Amino acid sequence: MTNPQQSATTHAGGALPGMLNDTLALPAVAAPMFILSGPELVIAQCKAGVVGSFPALNARPESELAIWLTRIEDALEQARTEDPSARIAPYAVNLICHPSNERLEHDLAICAEHEVPIVITSLSAPERVVPSVHAYGGLVFHDVISTRHAHKAIAAGVDGLILVSAGAGGHAGTLSPFAFVSEVRSFFDGPILLSGAITQGRQILAARALGADLAYLGSFFITAREANAASDYQQMVLNAEAADIVYTDLFSGVHANYLAPSIRAAGLDPVDLPAGDKAQLRVAEHGTKQIKAWRDVWSAGHGVGTIIETAPANVLIERLIDEYRQALSEVRAL
Ligand SMILES: Cc1cc2nc3c(=O)[nH]c(=O)nc-3n(C[C@H](O)[C@H](O)[C@H](O)COP(=O)(O)O)c2cc1C
Repeated sequence: MTNPQQSATTHAGGALPGMLNDTLALPAVAAPMFILSGPELVIAQCKAGVVGSFPALNARPESELAIWLTRIEDALEQARTEDPSARIAPYAVNLICHPSNERLEHDLAICAEHEVPIVITSLSAPERVVPSVHAYGGLVFHDVISTRHAHKAIAAGVDGLILVSAGAGGHAGTLSPFAFVSEVRSFFDGPILLSGAITQGRQILAARALGADLAYLGSFFITAREANAASDYQQMVLNAEAADIVYTDLFSGVHANYLAPSIRAAGLDPVDLPAGDKAQLRVAEHGTKQIKAWRDVWSAGHGVGTIIETAPANVLIERLIDEYRQALSEVRAL
């Protein structure tokens, strides 16, 4: 096998911010996943040369957040000391900017104190977050599902845009990545991260060919050993294909993609779901039973059909790097 620490990013070109130059082994970011991503997964991803991230809300109670950040920083610092030539990626924390997030002020203050290198914002424009993160030299990447949201995020001063396209896990969009990247590229020349069903090295190369700088992968890491996912959830992902993914706003009030077998297991018919209630984030009623998105009904994107193994994150990433290189040489031979 090729040495994954020899960068596969040489063709990444473009306008990547300084902290992402020579620290990535692959032009990729591991997306934050509610419940599933924690320090072990993030450390493994960063050490393998891919930006690792987690939602701040996963650290509970809120006093855990500072402890998690210290653990990640210490582990990455130690890895850099042990092998100064290794490509060890910076890490990222996801802050949900939705008004329902009562922890935003607290979590932002802790991120600023720890000078978290990259803050990923989602669900509402990050006006309050950008000045605090820029004050210490950090980057803000905001995730969007439409060009309207992209314009708002640019106006708020973000450093990069995450285009959440059709088929993504979690709160996915509906736009084709072909249309979405091209439209946003016509008015934004900063870093673009592309997400939606990316689970293979050749798709990371395709994202680059489309005009994105980095691929953004969530569901791909559900089956990582370090993910905080029940083994039944991981097995369901391994068994599933794209046709098993259901797009509904029932469980969180915002449209997201879920595994149909987990909806069935919660006692609902995935092909006959009622509409959701925007006021209710993360809970749906079924008779007298409350069904919680992410905990009772499991999310994943259209990429499940090509998620084929449970393995440590570094092994999964090494496979992506090999596939990326293979695809690159095939394209060059054309
Ligand atoms: C189980 C799960 C939980 C997620 N939780 C979050 C979250 O808390 N915050 C967030 O910004 N995105 C969340 N996402 C979305 C991902 O960050 C990312 O946009 C998406 O997974 C990319 O699409 P892919 O799954 O097809 O790779 C979640 C996705 C999944 C699958």
